[in-house]
Amino acid sequence: MPQHILVAVAWPYANGPLHLGHIAGAYLPADIFARYHRLKGNHVLMVSGSDMHGTPITISAEREGVSPEEVATRNHQGFLESWQKLGISFDLFTTTHTPNHAEVVHDIFLTLRDNDCIFKDTMPSAYCPQCDRYLPDRYLEGECPYCHFPAARGDQCDECGKTISTLYGFRCSICGASPQIRISEHFFLRLSRFSDRLESWARAQTHWRSNVANFTMRYIEEGLRDRAITRDLEWGVTVPVDGFENKRIYVWFEAVIGYLSASKEWARINGDSELWRQFWTGDARAYYFIGKDNIPFHTLIWPAILLGYGGLNLPYDVPANEFLTLEGRKFSTSRNWAVWLPGYLKRYDPDPLRYILSVNMPETGDTDFSWREFLRRNNDELVATYGNLAHRVLSFTYRNFDGHVPALGELDLSDNALLSKARDTLDSVGEPLSNCHFKEAIKAAFSLAQEANRYLDEKAPWKAIKQNRDAAAQTVGVALGAVSCLRTVLSPFLPFSSEKLHRLLGSGGSVEDVGWSFTFPLTGQALALPEPLFTKLDDELVAEETARLG
Ligand code: MF3
Ligand code: ZN
Repeated sequence: MPQHILVAVAWPYANGPLHLGHIAGAYLPADIFARYHRLKGNHVLMVSGSDMHGTPITISAEREGVSPEEVATRNHQGFLESWQKLGISFDLFTTTHTPNHAEVVHDIFLTLRDNDCIFKDTMPSAYCPQCDRYLPDRYLEGECPYCHFPAARGDQCDECGKTISTLYGFRCSICGASPQIRISEHFFLRLSRFSDRLESWARAQTHWRSNVANFTMRYIEEGLRDRAITRDLEWGVTVPVDGFENKRIYVWFEAVIGYLSASKEWARINGDSELWRQFWTGDARAYYFIGKDNIPFHTLIWPAILLGYGGLNLPYDVPANEFLTLEGRKFSTSRNWAVWLPGYLKRYDPDPLRYILSVNMPETGDTDFSWREFLRRNNDELVATYGNLAHRVLSFTYRNFDGHVPALGELDLSDNALLSKARDTLDSVGEPLSNCHFKEAIKAAFSLAQEANRYLDEKAPWKAIKQNRDAAAQTVGVALGAVSCLRTVLSPFLPFSSEKLHRLLGSGGSVEDVGWSFTFPLTGQALALPEPLFTKLDDELVAEETARLG
C-alpha cells in the first residue's frame, strides 16, 4: 500500500540568496527523501515557500528605498531559479504573501481564539516619538551588555553573537532619538497550557534524533511560557480583529502555518481543493526538514497550534540537521564568509555539490565544507569511482558489441556475487534513507560502485575479448546490471547524472518510471553514444574560490 508522505521544508527568509549551509541543513536532505519515496511509489507532497515577512526584510527594503514586497519578490524569484538548477523538486514552493496564506492563518487564529488558546493582553513596546512608529527589536541600537560593542541591535549583538534583552542606553536606529515605552494590546498563544500534552507526545517519539529530542525536552523543562503572536508593524499578515488594523501577526506564528496553506494551495492547483487532507490526516506521515536553530518552532509551537486547532496530524519526524561550517569557520553573511548558491550554480554542475553535501551532511554533528575537499571528492570519488566505472563499461560495450547489451551465458560465482550485492543495495540504501540517515545511505550505494570496480578489474574483459568473446560479453552484461542499479539508488542524491546514465543505458522514459527496483538482465538494449557522467575539476579552483571568501 502506498503511503502518503508530507515533506515539509523550512521557509527561507526572502531577504537574500541562500548559501551552502542552508542547502546542507534542510533543502538537500528533504529533496533526497522526497525523491526516494517517489521512486518507492509512495505519494509525496513536498512544500515550502519564501518567508516574506519579518523585520530583516523591512530593514533591507528601507535601506534600498524600495517596498518590502519588492525585496521579497526578487529574492523569491532567485530561490525558484536555484531550486530548478539544483534539482530541489518541490511540488509547490509558494510564499507567505498570498491571499490563500492569509486566509488559512486567519482561520487558525480565529479558531484558536474560539478555543481559548489565544488571549488578549498588553505588553510594553518601544516607540520612537520622532519617527512616530513602534520599533521592533532590530531597530533598537545600544551598547551590548556582554561585549560593550556600542552599536548592538536589540535582538542579537552582531559583534559577539549573544542574544540580548537589555541594551544600555538604547536609541532608535533610524533617527537616534531615545524611544519611549508604550503599553500596547496584543494577542498571546497559551503555550503553557500545552506543556503536558507536548511532553508526553514528544517523549513517545523514540525515533527522533537525539539532538531534536534533547532540545525539545530542555525547553519543556525550563517551562513553556505564553508568547505574544502579534506585533506593532505594518508588514505582515493582518490580524482579523477590530482595533488591530495597525498590527500584524508575528512572523514565526504565521510562517509555520505555511506548511498547511501551501498544501491547500497545491490541492487547488491540482484541481481538487480537498486533496491536501490525504497528507494531513490518518496514516499520513509528516517530516519537517529544518536546521537546528528552528527546532522549538517545529517540535513545540507548531504542534501546539495544531493541537489547539484539532483534526490534523502532528509532525512524525523533525530530522533537524546541525550546521555546516566553511573552511573551518561559521558562515557569516555580513563578513561574506559564504559560498552563495547562485554563484556556485553558475560555475559548477549541481550533482558534485549534492554529492559532497550528502557524504558530508551535518546529521549528528557540525561538518565542514572546504574547496579542497570538494575538489578531492569530485575527482577521487565521483569521477574515479562512479563516473569512470559507468563510462568504461558503457564505452567498452558500445565499441565491442555493436552498441547493444550482449546476451549472457551461465553465471559464475563472482557474477552472482556482484548481482546479489546489487539486489541487496536497494535495501542497504533504502532502509537508512527511510530513517533519514543520508550519509549511511550514500555510502552503501558507493560500496556497490567499489565492488563493481573490483569485479571489472578481476575479470578484465578488455583482455578476455581477444580469446573469449562470450566471457567478455558475460562480464559487461553483469557490470551493466550493477551500473543500472547505481543509476537507481543514486538518483535521489544525484538526479541529473542518474537521468543521463538512464539515457546512456538506452532505457526509455525516466528513472522514476523504473522505480526502486533492480531489473536484470538488460540484454538487447541499445546503448546511446557514451559520454562521461562527470567532469574532472582543475586544482586551480581551490585558490580561485578561496579568494572569493571574506
Ligand atoms: N524563515 C525562517 C528561517 O529562515 C524559517 C522559518 S521555517 C517556518 O530561519 F516553518 F517557520 F517557516
Ligand atoms: Zn526614530
